[in-house]
Order: sequence, then structure tokens, then C-alpha cells
Amino acid sequence: MEDKLFRERYDAYREAVEAYLDKLFTGDVPWQELYKSMRYSLLSGGKRIRPVLTLECARLGGIRDWKYALPFACALELVHTYSLIHDDLPCMDDDALRRGKPTNHVVFGETMATLAGDALQAEAYRLIAEAPKLSKTAKLDAVWSLAWASGANGMVAGQVLDLTDFGHDRETLTTLCDRKTCFMIKAAAELGCAAANASGELTAALARYASLLGLAFQIRDDLLDVIGDEATFGKPIGSDRDEGKTTFVDLLGADGCASEVERLTDEAVAALDGIPDTAFLIELARRLTTRTK
Ligand code: IPE
Ligand code: IPE
Ligand code: MG
Ligand code: MG
Ligand code: MG
Repeated sequence: MEDKLFRERYDAYREAVEAYLDKLFTGDVPWQELYKSMRYSLLSGGKRIRPVLTLECARLGGIRDWKYALPFACALELVHTYSLIHDDLPCMDDDALRRGKPTNHVVFGETMATLAGDALQAEAYRLIAEAPKLSKTAKLDAVWSLAWASGANGMVAGQVLDLTDFGHDRETLTTLCDRKTCFMIKAAAELGCAAANASGELTAALARYASLLGLAFQIRDDLLDVIGDEATFGKPIGSDRDEGKTTFVDLLGADGCASEVERLTDEAVAALDGIPDTAFLIELARRLTTRTK
């Protein structure tokens, strides 16, 4: 896909997501500090890869207007944001920098950061329930996907494996990353399909694409934690090593990571075989292999 076309579509999705999120948690309430803390992390310049994926999958699924899927896309971004706020806490990865800015607990304190994460998680399901243009069936599917992806057998399970001494051979690390990262990226595709009431076949193919993309994404993240530039990456370099984590870089080496990212991306793209109009998703996958932030 031509660079200009890709950029235009990505920016259209991203800007719609930013505008939607910017309207949230703005009221004049006595617990203003909570709203501030939630908005600080929600609106701090994330790449918005997951909601972009939701909106593109909704479009591919044949939704009348991809904007109808914005509440689902943003619900997932709320859960993602909560996961990052908690991930950075001293009791978790203990990181002070995220998206080039001080982490939530550094600015608002651990109590407010914890509560902001809690609130973002619950509010995500409110956004789904209130989505004005989508059916009850679509909402139920979205709730199911998001809860599975983020809950006790999903992202949180991945975080448990990441933060406890579980043994870190390749198989364990793959399970860990699958749950910690791929499940949420897969859910992004599923939420778009749910919004569009897409067929089971299309949903399965897009979910497979997203899942493989997710693993490539996490391996690239592990690699950038070693070879990245802090100013561009927006996160501390060497944080995984400082916390004693075993990552894909330890198992495969830097070159091995780069070729594994390529291999998984090829597999992700192959999952799209036979689906029309996938140029944007193919381009997205290719671009993520060399991302620097
Ligand atoms: C960070 O995700 C957490 C991982 C799964 C590696 P992103 O790299 O998508 O974070 P933002 O939202 O763009 O900051
Ligand atoms: C975090 O993985 C994935 C989450 C569930 C938040 P990392 O701990 O590697 O993410 P970063 O590097 O802090 O963004
Ligand atoms: Mg972590
Ligand atoms: Mg972390
Ligand atoms: Mg990381």
C-alpha cells in the first residue's frame, strides 16, 4: 500500500480515537484528581495500534461506518491503558518513564495510579454497553472477547508469569507473551469483527493475523528494550534486564529476534490469504517489524 494512503487511513483512525478519548472523564467532580490521572495516561501519545486494528477490522467486516465501532476500539484502549499504568507500578516493573513522560504513579502517586487503572477497566465495559449504533449481540460478543483477553486467563495471567519466577524456556516465554500481549491484540481484531457482525470465518482469520502480529510486536518490544533509543522509544532502556527478566533477546539474541519478528509477520500476513482489501493490514504488519517506538 502506498505510504500516503496508509498514513491517511491510520491518521483518520487515530484522530477519531483521540477525539473520542478526549471527551471522557471531563466533568467537574470532587474526585478531580482521579479524572486527571486517568486522562494523563489516556491522552499521552500512545501509538493506538489496538484501536486502529479494531476500526480496520470493523471496516473489513463490512460495518456501515467504521466510526460506529469507536466505543469498542476505545474500550480496549482503556483496558490497555490500565494495564500499562499498573505494569509501571513499583510492585510490578517499577518504571518511571512511559511514552517519554513520567509514569502515572510518579506524577499522581501509587494510590491514585492504582485507582485510575481500576476505574479505566470498569469504564471500558460502560463504553461497550453504551455504544449507540451497535446491537446487543455485538456488545455481548465484545464484552466476552475483552474479558477473556484481559482477565485471569489472559493479560493478567501473562503478567503473573512475567512477574513470578516461573522458568523461562522458550515455550514458557511464548505462553507468557501470548497471554500478556497477543490476547489483547487479538481481542482488538475480534472487537472490530463483533462490531461489524462479521462471519466466524473472517473473524478467525483476522484473529489469527492479530495474534501472530502480537507476538512479533512483543519480541520487537523486548529487542527495543535492549537496542532502542530512550528518547524515541519513550521507555527506559535496559528495564527488563534491571528487573531480572528473561526475554526473547536472552533466548534468541538480537539477530534471532529480528528474524523471528520477520517470520511471525510473514505468518500473520499469510493468515490474510483469500480475504479481499487487506493492503492496510499487510502494510501495518510490515511497518511494525522495524518500529522504533
Ligand atoms: C506496550 O504497548 C505494551 C506492550 C505490549 C509491549 P504499546 O507499544 O502498544 O504501547 P503504546 O500504547 O503505544 O504506548
Ligand atoms: C507489558 O509488557 C504488557 C502489559 C500487559 C502491560 P512490558 O512490561 O514489556 O511492557 P512495557 O515494555 O512496560 O511497555
Ligand atoms: Mg511488564
Ligand atoms: Mg513494563
Ligand atoms: Mg517491554
